[in-house]
Amino acid sequence: MKLLEIHGSRGASTILIGESLRDVRKYIPTEEVVIITDANVRHYYSKDFPPCEVIEIGTGERIKNLDTVQGIYGKLVELEAGRSSFIVGIGGGIVCDIAGFVGSTYLRGVRFGFVPSTLLSQVDASVGGKNGVNFGGYKNMVGVFNQPEFVICDMNLLRTLPEREISCGFAEIVKHAAIGDANLFTYLEEHCEKALELDIEVIEKLVYDSVVIKSSIVNRDEREEGGRRKLNFGHTFGHAIEKTTGVPHGEAVSAGMLVASALSAKRRHLEAEEAERIEALLKKLKLPTRLELDVERVLDALRKDKKRKGDSINLVLLHGIGNAVVEKISMRELEAVVNEII
Ligand code: GLY
Repeated sequence: MKLLEIHGSRGASTILIGESLRDVRKYIPTEEVVIITDANVRHYYSKDFPPCEVIEIGTGERIKNLDTVQGIYGKLVELEAGRSSFIVGIGGGIVCDIAGFVGSTYLRGVRFGFVPSTLLSQVDASVGGKNGVNFGGYKNMVGVFNQPEFVICDMNLLRTLPEREISCGFAEIVKHAAIGDANLFTYLEEHCEKALELDIEVIEKLVYDSVVIKSSIVNRDEREEGGRRKLNFGHTFGHAIEKTTGVPHGEAVSAGMLVASALSAKRRHLEAEEAERIEALLKKLKLPTRLELDVERVLDALRKDKKRKGDSINLVLLHGIGNAVVEKISMRELEAVVNEII
C-alpha cells in the first residue's frame, strides 16, 4: 500500500492506494458511522461494508442534485445522526461528490471519508476536496472545497466495472500524464493492454502516479485560483460535449482533450506528432476521439461555461506532452476554432 497526503485549508486528506474496502473499519469510529452508496455498489460489496447504517441513493448524473442531498439530510435526521457522526461515501464520482457535500454541510459539517469504486473517481473525482452537485443545468454549480479524511483506492473494486466505465477512468489518467508527466504518458503507451486487463501492478502504478500529479497540484492551489486550472485540460470542451451529447464524462473529456490538443498544435505549442500520439493513446484505451457534434449547441454550452469571464475564457493548452499552460482566449477566437476543428 502507498500513501499520499493532501493538506487542505480545513484539514488533511490521506489517499491510501492499494488499501482494501474490508479494512475501512481501521479509519472510522466504532459508532455513529453512516454509509452513503448506490444500489450497484451495495449489491456487489455490502458484504465488505462495516456494520452500520446505509443510505442508498440512485445512479446517474440526473440524481446529482439538491433533491438527493435533501433526501439524505432527511434520513440523517431520522437516524438522529449528530455532530460526532462519520459519513463514508462508497461508490463512484456521483456518490463521493454527494457524500462529501452532505458531510461538509450537515450540522455545519461532520467527519467524512471515501472509498471510490470506479477508476475515474479513484484518480480524479474523490481526490482533491471538490464536493458538490449540479444546479440549473450547470455542472457542479453548488458545492464546497473540503478534504475527505481518507480516500481508500481498492483496486479489487474495479473488477466489476463495465469496460466502458474503465476506459472513462483512463481518460483522466491520460489527462494527468498529458499535463504533468511525459514519462507516465510513455508508460501508458507501452502498457495499454495490461492496463485494460486491470493488471494489478500496472493499474496500481497508474493510479498512484496519477494521484501524485493531482495531489501535488492541489497542495499548491486547493481552491483553483491558479495552477489547479490545469486539471481542466479537455474539460471546457468536454463539459460542452457531455451536455450536448449525453455521453459519459470520460468519453466527453477524451474528445475534449483532442480539441484542446488541436488548438495547442494550431498555436504551435504542440508538435503535430505529439497531438497524434495523444489521439492514438486515447483510441488504444477504447476512448472516442471524434464524436458527432452539433457545433451550434456546443458553442452555446461554451458561452454558458461557468468559468467564462466576460468576453474570454481560460483554456488549458499543452506546450508539449507533460507541460500544460493556462491561456486566456477570446470567445470569438474560440468560436472560430470550434467551427474549424469540430
Ligand atoms: N477534476 C478537476 C479538479 O479536481 O480540479
